[in-house]
Amino acid sequence: MKILIIGGGGREHAIAWKAAQSPRVEKLYCAPGNAGIASVAECVNIPVMDFAAQVKFAKEKEIDLVVVAPDDPLAAGAVDAFEASGIRAFGPRKNAAILEGSKAFSKDLMKKYGIPTAAYETFDTPEAALKYLETAPVPIVLKADGLALGKGVLICKTREEAREGVKTLMLDRQFGSAGDRIVIEQFMTGREVSVLTFVDGRTIRVMTSAQDHKRAKDGDQGLNTGGMGTFSPSPFYTAEIDAYCREHIYQPTVDAMRAEGREFKGVIFFGLMLTADGPKVLEYNARFGDPETQVVLPRMKNDIVDVFEACIDGTLDQIDLQFDDNAAVCVVLASDGYPEHYEKGFPITGLDAFDGKAGCYVFHAGSKFDADGEIVTNGGRVLGVTALGDTLKEARKNAYAATEWITFANKYMRHDIGKAIDEA
Ligand code: GLY
Repeated sequence: MKILIIGGGGREHAIAWKAAQSPRVEKLYCAPGNAGIASVAECVNIPVMDFAAQVKFAKEKEIDLVVVAPDDPLAAGAVDAFEASGIRAFGPRKNAAILEGSKAFSKDLMKKYGIPTAAYETFDTPEAALKYLETAPVPIVLKADGLALGKGVLICKTREEAREGVKTLMLDRQFGSAGDRIVIEQFMTGREVSVLTFVDGRTIRVMTSAQDHKRAKDGDQGLNTGGMGTFSPSPFYTAEIDAYCREHIYQPTVDAMRAEGREFKGVIFFGLMLTADGPKVLEYNARFGDPETQVVLPRMKNDIVDVFEACIDGTLDQIDLQFDDNAAVCVVLASDGYPEHYEKGFPITGLDAFDGKAGCYVFHAGSKFDADGEIVTNGGRVLGVTALGDTLKEARKNAYAATEWITFANKYMRHDIGKAIDEA
């Protein structure tokens, strides 16, 4: 089979690495890819939003399957564009990707179908939002309705911060039209867990759990980022919680989307909060999480190509999804200053230390080849260093040891990824 993966970050590197292990894959392409992905796939310089060029390329190369990984092209109808040209594509169509693309849609869906989530109100004008905030309890959460590079959620401790947040989203339009409508919701407390699932429209298969670390600095301080590290499984996601979520959250979400005429095929990523009142949905994503994918896929036993095809064909009920009984930790190596101002273009050394080291992986998030063919930094998040272990503690030790193998100027990482493990 010939497969084209759309995207160019750590998530796509992990997907490409996993797909490359399938004996069914004869050739892998990635658009646009990065310097790490180039070790397992041929990278083609087509931007993620250029559907016309992607379709043309897929036809020319007789691609059998396209995997659309990032949120923006999914929400804009990338899968529909491939299907319209008779090319099989993994991921939700535009009418289903709205599950992530509109926070107001997903909150209304949960309310309508009784799926546990925080209480909320939706606002189309700053005046109405500000009036609501006069009496709303704080802390409170503001969410831009549309996609905002994962940065459209503001947790406001005070009423003043919330008023500022309305200004940022709706008046200053920091995230453009994504903030023209906002959701204001009750602040929930508890442990966050990420659960990725495969869905074929009717059947849902649950992957292993993970936990992300979104803040830039140790102790969950600093600004929100795309994710500074992850671990899997979450020791707080017990069998009892899993059973509750399958019955009250996962299958009801799939059924609700079908009932709405928005059959979902692809990955639903459930962002959960384990509250004192039980698990509740913080957010849905209509795609693999990043960096969650970097700890989940190394633990997955199945051939991922079989699973992709089962999602498309509606035969996921025939797949026995299995994960190793081990653990993984991913530490993101970033450029100092991320997520604000940071420099790029520094040579990365030590990557070959991973060659032949079983259970240690380096997934590239922001790297490229310079004019001399050397691998250099090319983003805020540069690399995801993942290691396996029999236990979470062992995986964490292995991952931090492997971060030392890599050097580049302005290398920055958190030192407490997976520290919560100690409290389990
Ligand atoms: N790690 C969170 C996300 O992928 O959105």
